[in-house]
Amino acid sequence: MVLSAMRSLAMSLALTSGAAFFMRLDLADNDFNFSPIPSRLGHDLTCLTYLNLSYSVFSGQIPIEISKLSKLSTLDLSSNNDLELKRTNLRSLIQNFTSIKELDLSDVGIHSTVPDILRNATSLTVLSLRTCQLYGEFPIGIFRPPNLEVLDLYENFNLAGYIPTFNQTNSFKVLDVAETSFYGQLPNSIGNLHSLNTLSISFCNFYPRVPSSLRNLTQLTYLDISSFYDIDHTYSNKTSQLVPDSWSWIGKLMKLHVLGLAYSNLWGNFPYFVANLTQLAYLDLSFNDISGEIPSCIMNLTQLTYLALSSNKLNGIVEFDQFSKLRSLASLRLSGNQLSLLIKPDLNATLPMFKLLWLDSCNLTEFPEFLKNQHELFDLHLSANKIHGQIPKWFWNATRENLLSGRIPSNLVRLNFLAYFNVSHNRLWGPIPLGQQFGTFLEDSYQENLGLCGKPLSNKCKDSKSTKLPPSSIFEGEDSGFRFEFDWYVVLPGVISGLIVGVISGNILANKKHEWFVQTFSRKRQLRGRKGRKGRQA
Ligand SMILES: *[C@@H]1O[C@H](CO)[C@@H](O)[C@H](O)[C@H]1NC(C)=O
Ligand SMILES: *[C@@H]1O[C@H](CO)[C@@H](O)[C@H](O)[C@H]1NC(C)=O
Ligand SMILES: *[C@@H]1O[C@H](CO)[C@@H](O)[C@H](O)[C@H]1NC(C)=O
Ligand SMILES: *[C@@H]1O[C@H](CO)[C@@H](O)[C@H](O)[C@H]1NC(C)=O
Ligand SMILES: *[C@@H]1O[C@H](CO)[C@@H](O)[C@H](O)[C@H]1NC(C)=O
Ligand SMILES: *[C@@H]1O[C@H](CO)[C@@H](O)[C@H](O)[C@H]1NC(C)=O
Ligand SMILES: *[C@@H]1O[C@H](CO)[C@@H](O)[C@H](O)[C@H]1NC(C)=O
Ligand SMILES: *[C@@H]1O[C@H](CO)[C@@H](O)[C@H](O)[C@H]1NC(C)=O
Ligand SMILES: *[C@@H]1O[C@H](CO)[C@@H](O)[C@H](O)[C@H]1NC(C)=O
Ligand SMILES: *[C@@H]1O[C@H](CO)[C@@H](O)[C@H](O)[C@H]1NC(C)=O
Ligand SMILES: *[C@@H]1O[C@H](CO)[C@@H](O)[C@H](O)[C@H]1NC(C)=O
Ligand SMILES: *[C@@H]1O[C@H](CO)[C@@H](O)[C@H](O)[C@H]1NC(C)=O
Repeated sequence: MVLSAMRSLAMSLALTSGAAFFMRLDLADNDFNFSPIPSRLGHDLTCLTYLNLSYSVFSGQIPIEISKLSKLSTLDLSSNNDLELKRTNLRSLIQNFTSIKELDLSDVGIHSTVPDILRNATSLTVLSLRTCQLYGEFPIGIFRPPNLEVLDLYENFNLAGYIPTFNQTNSFKVLDVAETSFYGQLPNSIGNLHSLNTLSISFCNFYPRVPSSLRNLTQLTYLDISSFYDIDHTYSNKTSQLVPDSWSWIGKLMKLHVLGLAYSNLWGNFPYFVANLTQLAYLDLSFNDISGEIPSCIMNLTQLTYLALSSNKLNGIVEFDQFSKLRSLASLRLSGNQLSLLIKPDLNATLPMFKLLWLDSCNLTEFPEFLKNQHELFDLHLSANKIHGQIPKWFWNATRENLLSGRIPSNLVRLNFLAYFNVSHNRLWGPIPLGQQFGTFLEDSYQENLGLCGKPLSNKCKDSKSTKLPPSSIFEGEDSGFRFEFDWYVVLPGVISGLIVGVISGNILANKKHEWFVQTFSRKRQLRGRKGRKGRQA
C-alpha cells in the first residue's frame, strides 16, 4: 500500500467538516511517519464509536481531545512508536468513555497507576495495557466487570496486584499478567474460568502452589507458569514426590499450543506428560533440574517450532538427525546440559531450517558442517564445546556483506587459527585489532565499513588508547581449542533480525545476561506475534 497517499486521503476524509458523522475510523496498519495524533479528531469526530490507530507509526503525546469521544466503544492506539500519555493522565482520558468495550493502549508510555474508575466500565470486554510502564497496585475491582474477557497487563514490571477469587459467572478468556509484580496465591477458584484459553503468569511473584484446579481448564491453549516457585518443588521436599509427576495433570490439557515451565524447579526424570500434548508448538523446560536422557517421544511433537531444554541436567547421547522429525522447528536450545550431540557429517537436507540454535556445551568436536545450509539462522551458540581446527571459510563468508555493526572484538586476535577473515561491506567502526593473523589480512577484507581504522587501512586511528588490547581473563587457564568471545549483532539486509554469534567459553557469568536477553527477545518476537516494525524492539 502506498502509505503516504493512503495517509493524506484518510486524514482529509476524516477531518473535513461534515465528518462528524463518522462512526468508525480505522487507520490501523499505516505509516504516519512518527507524526502526532491530530487533536482535531476529538473535536471533529464526536460520533465515533470505533477508533483504531494501531500499528500506524504515530508518536508523541495522545491529545486530551480524544477524551471527548464519549461514544467510543473501541479505542485501539496500540503498537505505535513511542506514543505517550504524559500531559494528561489515564483517568482523564477514559473517564467519559461510558460505553467502552475494548480499550487497547499497549505500548503507550502511560507511566502512572491504573485508575479504579475502570471497574465501573461494566461493558468492558477487552482491557489491554501491555508494556505501558504502569506501576502501583492494580485496582482489584477491575476483575469484576461481568463481561471482561481479556485482561492483558503483560510486562509492566512495577505493577503489583493479586488475582481475586472467581465465581462461576466469569467470562475470562485471556488472563496475562506475565512479567509484572503480581503476587500472592493463585486462588483455587481459577478452576472456575472454564472459558480461559490463555493463562500467562510467568515471572511474577506467585506462591506457594500451582492450584490443581487448573486441570479443569481444558480450553487452555496457552499456559505459561515459568518461574512459579512451587513450594512442593523445593529441595527439602525432593524426597517426597517426583515433581514432574505432581504436575502430570498438565498432560490432560490436550489443546495446549504453548507450555512454559522454565525456572520451575522441576527435577527428576523428564516430564513425560508433555509427550501427550501433540498440539504443542512452543515448549520451554529450560532452567530446571531435569535429569536423564531426552526421551524420543519428544520427537512425536511434530508441531513444535520452539523447543528449549537448556540449563538442566540432561545427559546421554543425542543423535541430531532425530530433530529432522520436527519439520517446523525453528528454535532449539540444548545448551547447559551434559549432553553429547552426535552430528553425522553427511547430515543436512532433511533438517528443519533453524533460526535459533543453541548448542553450547554439547560435546561437539567439529564445527557442524550442516550449518552451511542453514540460511535462516540468526542466533547461533557453540560455546564450551571441544571444537578444534579452523572455522571453515564458508562460515566467515556468511559474515560478508551483511550489516555487522560495532567494533571488531579485540579478542579475535587471540585466535591463532584464524586463517580467513572478511568483514567487508558491513557497518563496523573503530580500530582493527593489532597482531597475529590480523597483520596478514589485506585491505579488501575490511573495505566498505563505517569507520574502521588502523592497519592495513591507510586511515589512522585518532585515539591510540582504543587500539590496545583490554585485559582478558576469558582465555586464561584453559586448554587448547576453539574459544573466543564474539557476539555481534548482525542485521541481515531486508530482514529485521539479529544474528548473534556467541562462541564463548568458560564465561558463564557474562553469558547469563546475554541468554536472558535472547530469551526474552526471541520469545517476544515469536510468541507474541508482534509486528517487527516497532522501533523499540528493532
Ligand atoms: C485494530 O486494527 C488491527 C489491524 O488491522 C487489528 O489487528 C485489531 O484487531 C484492531 N483492533 C480492534 C480493537 O479492533
Ligand atoms: C466529560 O464529559 C463532560 C460532560 O459531557 C464534559 O464536561 C467534560 O469536559 C468531559 N471531560 C473530558 C476530560 O473530556
Ligand atoms: C462508579 O460509579 C458509581 C455510581 O455511578 C459512583 O458512585 C462511583 O464513584 C464510581 N466509582 C469510581 C471509582 O468512579
Ligand atoms: C459473580 O460475579 C459476578 C460478576 O463478577 C457478580 O455480578 C456476581 O454478584 C458474583 N456472584 C457471587 C455469588 O459472588
Ligand atoms: C473440576 O471440575 C469438577 C466439575 O466441574 C469439580 O467437581 C472438581 O472439583 C474440579 N476440580 C478441581 C480440582 O477444581
Ligand atoms: C513440603 O511439602 C509439604 C506438603 O506437600 C508442605 O506442607 C511443606 O510445607 C513442604 N515443605 C517445605 C519446606 O516446603
Ligand atoms: C494423555 O491424554 C489422554 C487423553 O486425554 C489421557 O487419557 C491420558 O491420561 C493422558 N496421559 C497423560 C500422561 O497425561
Ligand atoms: C509416537 O507416536 C507414534 C504414533 O502416534 C506411537 O506409535 C509411538 O509410540 C510414539 N512414540 C513415543 C516414543 O511416544
Ligand atoms: C547437503 O545438501 C546439499 C543441498 O541440499 C547437497 O548439495 C549436498 O550434497 C548435501 N551434502 C551432503 C553431505 O549430504
Ligand atoms: C564426549 O564425546 C566423546 C566422544 O566424542 C565421548 O567419549 C565422551 O564420553 C563424551 N563426553 C561426555 C561428557 O559425554
Ligand atoms: C563465498 O561466497 C561467494 C559468493 O556467494 C562464493 O562464490 C564462494 O564460493 C564462497 N566461498 C566459500 C569458501 O564458501
Ligand atoms: C572480501 O569480500 C569482498 C566482497 O565482499 C571481496 O571483494 C574481497 O576480495 C574479499 N577479500 C578477501 C581477502 O577475500
